Amino acid sequence: MTLTVKDITPLEAYQRIEELGLYSCHRVQIIDVRERHEIETFGKIEASYNVPFSVYESNRDMFTAALIDLVDKEATVIIYCRSGRRSGIVSKYAAEELGFNDVYNVVGGLNQWTDDRLPIKTYANDHSPWVHTIFEHETATAQYIVTDIVSKETYIIDPVLDYDPLDAVVQPRTAKLILEHVNRFGLNVTKIIDTHVHADHLTAAIYLKEQLPSNPEFCIGSNVVEVQKTFLERYNLPPTAFTMEHFDRLVKEDDTWTLGDMIHCSVIATPGHTPACMSYRIGDAAFVGDTLFMPDIGTARCDFPGGSAEQMYTSIHKMYKLWPNGTRIYVGHDYPPATSLRTHMVMTLLGVHKKLNKMIDEEKSMDEYVKLRSERDATLRVPRFIHPSLQVNLRGGLLPQDEPSVHGKATPQTFIKVPIRFRT
Ligand SMILES: *[C@@H]1O[C@H](CO)[C@@H](O)[C@H](O)[C@H]1NC(C)=O
Ligand SMILES: *[C@@H]1O[C@H](CO)[C@@H](O)[C@H](O)[C@H]1NC(C)=O
Repeated sequence: MTLTVKDITPLEAYQRIEELGLYSCHRVQIIDVRERHEIETFGKIEASYNVPFSVYESNRDMFTAALIDLVDKEATVIIYCRSGRRSGIVSKYAAEELGFNDVYNVVGGLNQWTDDRLPIKTYANDHSPWVHTIFEHETATAQYIVTDIVSKETYIIDPVLDYDPLDAVVQPRTAKLILEHVNRFGLNVTKIIDTHVHADHLTAAIYLKEQLPSNPEFCIGSNVVEVQKTFLERYNLPPTAFTMEHFDRLVKEDDTWTLGDMIHCSVIATPGHTPACMSYRIGDAAFVGDTLFMPDIGTARCDFPGGSAEQMYTSIHKMYKLWPNGTRIYVGHDYPPATSLRTHMVMTLLGVHKKLNKMIDEEKSMDEYVKLRSERDATLRVPRFIHPSLQVNLRGGLLPQDEPSVHGKATPQTFIKVPIRFRT
């Protein structure tokens, strides 16, 4: 069967989007192939993602990879530009070369859409980065490579170092996959961001920093200092055990900067899971670490030292208030419920969470949420790799100092402490 592009008028496209429901699920995706300056001047269709046509012409490989990462092939995909010419070319390519199932080209483009007085969303610092996900199955962690497709400037978010407790080995198997992606597309990595001090996996930030010639800065929330204090006591370590020297940049609420060509970045503090959790909005994508999880799961746990379900509630409502509904929310982990048939998923729109997040939709009160969260937390055990994770991540991603042999052996060894108590 040859897949073909279907033409659709703006009015029909609008009706189809309404019918499928932008925020009820992910059955419709809207792709804007105009250039960024056109979006800033004329606005866009709500919740559309942008992959500029100039990249289709200059770097087909990267355009294709970005499109495939953005779009669910099984969804209804509506593609538009200003007049329908560029989107016509991309629609044909998506259907015929990439095998997208249900592709529509908006004839007359945004010009006709505007003439028909259909709703337009003005530009709100929400250009689209290209987000590539490498899911690490052992700890169910989503690692993100976030690229400005125009300049190739890139951030790596929450990278994992593999840990095998039975072999007592730490190795960069997963991190090497990140390097492969970076090298394949010639990306310029300028930041490595940990959304918080992870308690379930070791960060690969330092390993990646050493491997990358672009010398990226390692960023983490400034409240990491508090978390260090808590766990120095917990592990009975001297204050010198955890230093700050490997964190290049301590990020604070309201920090802003630009990724590459005009992609606006901003930070909000989102404590709840830990006191140092930060969420990063990079254009129309947000990286929320352990706060919101996919809507059928709810949120991250709040029972770690320094955690608070009340704070989590306030943090998530801050997102609900500050960010546009069309913001793509990329979560830190995904644990598909055993009863569901779905595979791992890591992204949905903020508007979907507001309607459908099972623990914290827009309506739920703080008391209801805190009750739900506490009941759930009472059933959870600590993460398997908590002790190596904290002791390494609080050292800025370095393994503890080697211990010289007390038996006169040449090779020093490295140890992780495990607290233990006897319970009668
Ligand atoms: C990488 O991006 C940074 C920040 O924009 C820039 O200063 C640097 O020159 C870029 N490096 C390369 C190799 O493009
Ligand atoms: C965002 O979505 C929510 C729920 O889906 C809705 O209640 C709210 O009115 C929307 N906000 C805007 C500005 O469209």
